[in-house]
Amino acid sequence: MDTIRWAILGTGGIAAALADTIAAMPDGEVVAVGSRAEETARAFAARHGIARSYGSYEEAAQDPDVGAVYVATTNDLHHDNVLAAVAAGKAVLNEKPFALNAAQTEAMIAAARDAGVFLMEAMWMRFQPCITELKRLISDGVIGDVRWIQADFGFPADPVSRHRLFAPELGGGGLLDLGVYPLTFATSLLGLPTDFRVLDTPAESGVDAQLGIVLQHPGDALSVSSTSLIADLSGEATVGGTAGRIRVHAPFHHSPRLTVHRRGEQVDEIDTSYEGSGYRFEVAEVHRCLREGLTESPVMPLGHSLAMMRLLDDIRAEIGLQFPGE
Ligand SMILES: NC(=O)c1ccc[n+]([C@@H]2O[C@H](COP(=O)([O-])OP(=O)(O)OC[C@H]3O[C@@H](n4cnc5c(N)ncnc54)[C@H](OP(=O)(O)O)[C@@H]3O)[C@@H](O)[C@H]2O)c1
Repeated sequence: MDTIRWAILGTGGIAAALADTIAAMPDGEVVAVGSRAEETARAFAARHGIARSYGSYEEAAQDPDVGAVYVATTNDLHHDNVLAAVAAGKAVLNEKPFALNAAQTEAMIAAARDAGVFLMEAMWMRFQPCITELKRLISDGVIGDVRWIQADFGFPADPVSRHRLFAPELGGGGLLDLGVYPLTFATSLLGLPTDFRVLDTPAESGVDAQLGIVLQHPGDALSVSSTSLIADLSGEATVGGTAGRIRVHAPFHHSPRLTVHRRGEQVDEIDTSYEGSGYRFEVAEVHRCLREGLTESPVMPLGHSLAMMRLLDDIRAEIGLQFPGE
């Protein structure tokens, strides 16, 4: 099996998690890392056993030994980083949120299509065993027709140590960082919304500190997505149907357990837990797509990423949140 050689752009929390995930896979290897600072890249490379380190994102993306680039920088940089990797002819796995807005997303997708290179949003939830199982239960009609989804994701974040989350110039706020999960969850099960309502509590910095979002979906269905950076939420989801409901235990975006209820009684409990890194599923999908010569994942299509960014734009317009430079 040919090894896929990766460069990682960024050296933060999720970059470290993916470095370890890829290193543990039989067909992946991280061979380069790029950071704003050479010293930071060198230290990250030493910690994760990576051969080459660069003091810029562009140089890492251009490393001739690299076949795939993982973009793990702050939200404001995804656009430029993806364009640099695409220009170097590399396949790209790009962290969520895909970009700051839909206009950036359109440009990134167009660039990848023009260059004929693979591009995918790192929406790892889409590849989780719990989501596969949930979709199977729904399509088997176990809870009837789904009419209601409720999902929340939130925790009280310290504005000093978690600066990125509150910084408008980095594309901060609960919506882009956490809201993408319940919104992606609801839209991937019920389809794109036909209408929505939203209320927010702004943070001092101007980004959204918390949000309640109600989406209307085709087929007389509603979803309620909640996010908070100032309150501790359950992290659970409920999928309600005409014949029963499924409780997606916390954390719903990589849930270890589903319980199925019919007529108020628990009728089934499904273990969806696993050992090891939950990020390996999305990396495996990139590897599979590259082997099969695909430029887009059928599981996480670019059209869905773009539709989500348009929805995030619409929600931000409603709450009056613009990022600097927009
Ligand atoms: N899939 C997931 O489960 C998951 C989880 C968390 C985050 N994310 C996403 O992944 C991305 C990174 O999140 P993270 O939690 O890893 O963030 P983080 O720990 O704060 O790291 C962000 C990295 O971005 C780079 N960066 C560039 N400009 C920066 C600036 N002005 N301030 C701070 N950092 C800057 C830094 O790398 P250098 O210093 O090396 O340049 C830094 O290490 C975000 O888009 C986030 O939404 C995804």
